[in-house]
Amino acid sequence: QTWKKQILLVTSTPLVFSGTPSVCACRLLNPATILCLPPLCSLPSNGSRAQTNLSSMLAPQADRVMNLSEWEQRWQDNRIGFHQPQVHKMLESHIDKVLNGRSGVRFFFPLCGKAVDMKWLADMGHSVVGVEISEKAIRQFFEENNMTYSEEPVPAISGAKVFKNSEKNISLYQCDMYSFSSAIDGQFGAIWDRGSLVAINPQDREKYAALIISLMAEDCRYLLDTLLYNPELYPGPPFFVPDEQVHSLFGSRCDIETLQSVDAMTDRQREWGLDYLKEAVHLITMKSS
Ligand SMILES: C[S@@+](CC[C@H](N)C(=O)[O-])C[C@H]1O[C@@H](n2cnc3c(N)ncnc32)[C@H](O)[C@@H]1O
Repeated sequence: QTWKKQILLVTSTPLVFSGTPSVCACRLLNPATILCLPPLCSLPSNGSRAQTNLSSMLAPQADRVMNLSEWEQRWQDNRIGFHQPQVHKMLESHIDKVLNGRSGVRFFFPLCGKAVDMKWLADMGHSVVGVEISEKAIRQFFEENNMTYSEEPVPAISGAKVFKNSEKNISLYQCDMYSFSSAIDGQFGAIWDRGSLVAINPQDREKYAALIISLMAEDCRYLLDTLLYNPELYPGPPFFVPDEQVHSLFGSRCDIETLQSVDAMTDRQREWGLDYLKEAVHLITMKSS
């Protein structure tokens, strides 16, 4: 037997182990279910066991890649089921915690699409910088919100453009997120990450987290929205991002508070074949040095 799946055992009685040193059979509450475990003597230590568990949780989607031209194609075909016409409920519910009494905050929107949340924040007097690969998405954002905009090249990023509405203080960079940096437009006092960490390719998460941390000012309050579901049932995107990975990506540099976790299942996800979907939102702040 190979050790393939991570299984959480919740029992009301002690488990009974039997078997040879190489394979232990563990009798569960349901006697029909036999789980094979690796030999106890070879179980890894706590830290590496957590890493092994995380890797096995992520395994079903680990190699899934969606390239930039596929995202652009989605915009061209209008297959943008992720777009929400209203301000996101979790942003609305937790905005006070994000602002923390501040006004005129610089917000960053990674992988911004045409999220109406950007207009909502700008209307409250905050400034917004977004990054999005699709020019169509950016133009639609301004046009659907009846805003005029200018466009100009970004000399520091080959082929990139920035689209701006100066009255509302919104600047949207049309480029690959990984070409963006604090050298282009400074650091930010807040970040709203919805449909972003869950949309990038799973193998890029460490690179993405390092970039996000580099964009956080010392007082930055980063609101991160994640999705939890059984990754064996759907290939993504959006991808499954367990809380354990949020901690492994950001925990060494940041404090993380999970503010809310809700059942987010709708008919759309039932059609994907999911049997549950949870949406969680985390508030991430820089550890004080
Ligand atoms: C799931 S959508 C979410 C959009 C937006 N955050 C929202 O909540 O509606 C992800 C967006 O990221 C864009 N995108 C994907 N990879 C990107 C990358 N590497 N750099 C910039 N934009 C990217 C896609 O075109 C798409 O609009």
